[in-house]
Amino acid sequence: MTSMITVRAETLLRWAITVLEKAGASHPAAVATAEALVDANQRGLDSHGVTQLHFYLPGLKAGTMRGAAEPTVETDLPAAAVVDGHHGLGPYVARFAMDLCCSKARSAGAAVVGVRNSTHFGAASCVSEQAAYQNCIGIVVSNSDPGMGPPGALGPILGTNPLAVAAPFRREQPVSLDIATSVAAQSKVVLAAREGRAIPTGWAIGPDGEPTTDPASALAGAMLPMAGHKGFGLAVIIDILAGCLTGSALSPEISNDPAHPAQQRTGHLLIAIAVDRFVTAEHYGSRLERLAHTVHTAPRAPGTDRFLLPGELEASEARQRATEGIPLASASASLLAEIGATHGVPFPP
Ligand SMILES: NC(=O)c1ccc[n+]([C@@H]2O[C@H](COP(=O)([O-])OP(=O)(O)OC[C@H]3O[C@@H](n4cnc5c(N)ncnc54)[C@H](O)[C@@H]3O)[C@@H](O)[C@H]2O)c1
Repeated sequence: MTSMITVRAETLLRWAITVLEKAGASHPAAVATAEALVDANQRGLDSHGVTQLHFYLPGLKAGTMRGAAEPTVETDLPAAAVVDGHHGLGPYVARFAMDLCCSKARSAGAAVVGVRNSTHFGAASCVSEQAAYQNCIGIVVSNSDPGMGPPGALGPILGTNPLAVAAPFRREQPVSLDIATSVAAQSKVVLAAREGRAIPTGWAIGPDGEPTTDPASALAGAMLPMAGHKGFGLAVIIDILAGCLTGSALSPEISNDPAHPAQQRTGHLLIAIAVDRFVTAEHYGSRLERLAHTVHTAPRAPGTDRFLLPGELEASEARQRATEGIPLASASASLLAEIGATHGVPFPP
């Protein structure tokens, strides 16, 4: 068993690129995928970091994720497009689609790109922040394999369908909301199971429909929606936007087994809004600073921490991890060591 270790982001990135290439990914797909996974680790989103390779690599092996696939533009309108991912690696497909979306938004003011036949793209904020760094507000939704049921369900009905919105703010820190529509991402339960930790009450139900704090029981049962009917309703809407509208699978049709012979056919919908086509950059920036000041200085009850904007926790974690490296719990380090041994790329590198 490997013990808890710390790895620098650049080292982890090189290691993940090599593993993905050895598993059959093209160089650009391996780079985009490894960058998305390491970016998630860098920002503290460890449930969507390099341990997701555990899910992606069997997909590459089974051909349900096609490492050499190139996305193509199927419908090309001035402010809209439909991209076919051809079952390529989700982070690569989504990066291609968001670049296209931002380029259209720069000329049309705003643009929408639907993506069909994609696969799991990791943390949605890796895609929405890509827009923010191009001075666009980025909105990203995706469907995912079924993992969530409303209270009273005996199993999952829909995906934990994530939503991310990133708005340009200060140079290296967009305002960035990135959430599953379940109380918490199901990958956090996978991580807890691997690390032998209980999960908080209220996250999930077991296969008997009863609340559980046991991650194994939660994985056999279902995640609960965030904010009850509101989270479930949002997941329905996301399935309409990312599934029905794009020609992709619906979340109940997406297999959670990467080695399953059927393609995932995951769908995403991306929106980019070019800020300076609506108001001047100065107006937008000063209004957003005002909003941030209001949140940060709002009166708070004794013992309450300073209120944060979405994305601030992750930005602070990223600064810390840039200096100290990315900590990997022993169970995650062991998993990466196993992956490394299988692909002839030793871990730790
Ligand atoms: N690709 C997929 O299929 C898929 C599916 C589900 C979730 N996910 C990913 O899982 C990840 C985790 O989702 P989650 O729902 O568990 O996230 P979460 O509940 O941890 O919420 C994260 C969001 O809340 C904000 N936040 C957290 N604490 C805050 C505070 N004190 N003040 C202000 N804002 C705060 C964060 O900045 C972030 O925007 C996301 O990256 C999501 O994209 C992916």
